[in-house]
Amino acid sequence: MVNRNCRATLRLLTLINRQGHPHPPLSSSPSGIDACWKQLQRNNVHGEHKIVSFFSPLASSLKTRQWGVKIQSRCYGSASVLVQRNPKFSKLNDEDVRYFEGILGAKNVIQDDEKLITANTDWMRKYKGSSKLLLQPRTTDQVSEILKYCNFRCLAVVPQGGNTGLVGGSVPVFDEVVVSLSAMSKIISFDKVSGILVCEAGCILENIISFLDSEGFIMPLDLGAKGSCQIGGNVSTNAGGLRLLRYGSLHGNVLGIEAVLADGTVLDMLKTLRKDNTGYDLKHLFIGSEGSLGIVTKVSILTPPKLSSVNVAFLACKDYSSCQKLLQEARRKLGEILSAFEFLDSNAMNLVLNHLEGARNPLPTSLHNFYVLIETTGSDESSDKQKLEAFLLGSMENELISDGALAQDINQASSFWLLREGIPEALMRAGAVYKYDLSIPVEKMYNLVEEMRSRLGNDANVVGYGHLGDGNLHLNVSTPQYDDKILSQIEPFVYEWTSKHHGSISAEHGLGLMKANKIFYSKSPETVKVMTSIKKLLDPNHILNPYKVLPCSSIS
Ligand code: FAD
Ligand code: MLT
Ligand code: ZN
Repeated sequence: MVNRNCRATLRLLTLINRQGHPHPPLSSSPSGIDACWKQLQRNNVHGEHKIVSFFSPLASSLKTRQWGVKIQSRCYGSASVLVQRNPKFSKLNDEDVRYFEGILGAKNVIQDDEKLITANTDWMRKYKGSSKLLLQPRTTDQVSEILKYCNFRCLAVVPQGGNTGLVGGSVPVFDEVVVSLSAMSKIISFDKVSGILVCEAGCILENIISFLDSEGFIMPLDLGAKGSCQIGGNVSTNAGGLRLLRYGSLHGNVLGIEAVLADGTVLDMLKTLRKDNTGYDLKHLFIGSEGSLGIVTKVSILTPPKLSSVNVAFLACKDYSSCQKLLQEARRKLGEILSAFEFLDSNAMNLVLNHLEGARNPLPTSLHNFYVLIETTGSDESSDKQKLEAFLLGSMENELISDGALAQDINQASSFWLLREGIPEALMRAGAVYKYDLSIPVEKMYNLVEEMRSRLGNDANVVGYGHLGDGNLHLNVSTPQYDDKILSQIEPFVYEWTSKHHGSISAEHGLGLMKANKIFYSKSPETVKVMTSIKKLLDPNHILNPYKVLPCSSIS
């Protein structure tokens, strides 16, 4: 039935003239949890790897045995994996430290307790290592010297970017040496004709975005962690984010990489060509390999020009089927100007409104079942406006959307984005989080959320949001505390369900430590065997990010 009042219901129809939207910087330490942070510091145990819940200082009751570690244990839940420290790895000694000081200078060889605690602990406060050494090289040659030495000494290494990873990949499991790329943060060149940027791996994504903005360009990648994550980390995780729908994955946008192999060999693949079919395109091995094959030191990336007309709409849908139809319509009617299509369910919306300072519902009459954030980016203000208005009115007439608001200035656009980008932080503030990042065919995606809800009943808040336009569901289960019983109801069910529906158990966050042993849910044994051979070829001593990405069984 046609909704004749649709014009009245559509709240704000004013275009905004700008490119991009400012986001609050990602706080490296979520506020309001300082007491737990102190507790976490007290729980730092040397020589063992413990999973410490930020929210549950009960972590000290974790069961560990010498060199044995329960991953996701007790407070974190326990589809637990026992990881043993690889006895082949050497233990760091004073001579090693002196050697590194000789390469880097004493101030870039960090043994300070506070800095080590930060480097040892992931963003979710879920994984915690006990590394005694953080190295901060400033050049590719220094990275090469470090790795050559570590390989010779058989010292395990964790490459670290902004440490915003969500799967325990960016922190040591035991006493691995942390090699941070933070001091390699120079923009090397930018070609305004081609839009090709070359920069060092430690550039923070938000700084690149600002630099490009001043040049009249944008990054093809945008994500909530932009204030802290680094381009090297983005490439190493093949980060997806909020613009993949429009600009595609980093496999398409990254034109070249410089990477250092475990033995110190520098692979110069830092091409700035759109087309280059000379042999195997090895850079792709490093995109998404999560620091397990080499350390990315430089990146060249193709960036699109900044377009003058950007619109952000925040819409309500009565059910998931309407969200899907709206996506279909948006693709058809908005076509080339569609630049983001994100969704959140009412549980996610509630969570953000209750836990995130400054979050405000632009459609406050009552809580709707689903919300969709649509962004368009184009070059012609009036035709973009016409297109979007026609799409929104048509969607209201077809009852695909029940309410909606269109940002009329940059602040409104930011406040709409906050509702979507603020969900991970709101979840952290709400308590314990079981986080899953799944690719699932769009039509089946939300069934998993509903099934999970009926499995867990009132014991947990099951939250669904994500990059609907990419078929990427972020399924999060929020509870006051971690509980083994809850985890055993979630896993392996969530992986089995995803595998049965031909999905992927990691759409964009990677496997890290959390899912290294779950890889077979998404990859065949033959494929994993080839991956293992590549790992052995490039890193025969397995010093690079051990215990991550590939199953322990295949690497021993
Ligand atoms: P880190 O966390 O430091 O490291 C991640 C992995 O890459 C580790 O395995 C590490 O060893 C390796 N690594 C880092 N730098 C290098 C290097 N130079 N060479 C080799 N290996 C390296 N992810 C998405 O895909 N999409 C999102 O929308 C998204 N949103 C997020 C929102 C929030 C609030 C948060 C906290 C995280 C989000 N993430 C998202 C996850 C995370 O931000 C991304 O995975 C990001 O790309 C990690 O970059 P980083 O620099 O923080 O890397
Ligand atoms: C997001 O899209 O918000 C990120 O991938 C982080 C998350 O899944 O929580
Ligand atoms: Zn995401």
